[in-house]
Amino acid sequence: MKKIILFDSKRGTTKEIAYQIVSKMNTPSDISAIDRISSKELDSYDIIILGAPAYAGNLRKQTKNFLSENIATLTEKRLLLFSLGLQFNPDEITKQINELFPKELMNHAEMNVFLGGKVDFSKLNVFERLIMKKILSNNGINNLTKTSCYENLKFQALDELINTINHIS
Ligand SMILES: Cc1cc2nc3c(=O)[nH]c(=O)nc-3n(C[C@H](O)[C@H](O)[C@H](O)COP(=O)(O)O)c2cc1C
Repeated sequence: MKKIILFDSKRGTTKEIAYQIVSKMNTPSDISAIDRISSKELDSYDIIILGAPAYAGNLRKQTKNFLSENIATLTEKRLLLFSLGLQFNPDEITKQINELFPKELMNHAEMNVFLGGKVDFSKLNVFERLIMKKILSNNGINNLTKTSCYENLKFQALDELINTINHIS
């Protein structure tokens, strides 16, 4: 069974997590950014593990384009989805998980898991910094500066994802 981890990442966290997953898999797997793989190459895999971050409640445009261009192939394969984000309210997390990926993909996927996220303020523009400061302060996280880095990764969910991947046969 040929496996590949595909990721989209604006600021590097999803990429970092994708590499962690691949390093903990018990059989060799390929890894690629979604913009580095052709539809023909994608079709050569049996199992696809695909991860992307949420921005303003949505997938990024390139992720959406990739998914719509390859929906037929993706729904023919064994598929596991993961998303990254900084949501705190359990109801909001559930809502986001249920709305982020296209319905057709979610109905087909064996797993759809939220892994939390990370933000490095030094990489954000002024506008993004304001949004993140507001979101974090609404959740009791204050005293953030231009160089703060905030992380809320869900390592238990990550382990469950890796465990599921390692038990696929
Ligand atoms: C401007 C901005 C908007 C964001 N919007 C959301 C959001 O709607 N939902 C969410 O869960 N996380 C949101 N996040 C958090 C990111 O998804 C999180 O930082 C993630 O780890 C980024 O992954 P990346 O480094 O791979 O791009 C937002 C972050 C920024 C900077």
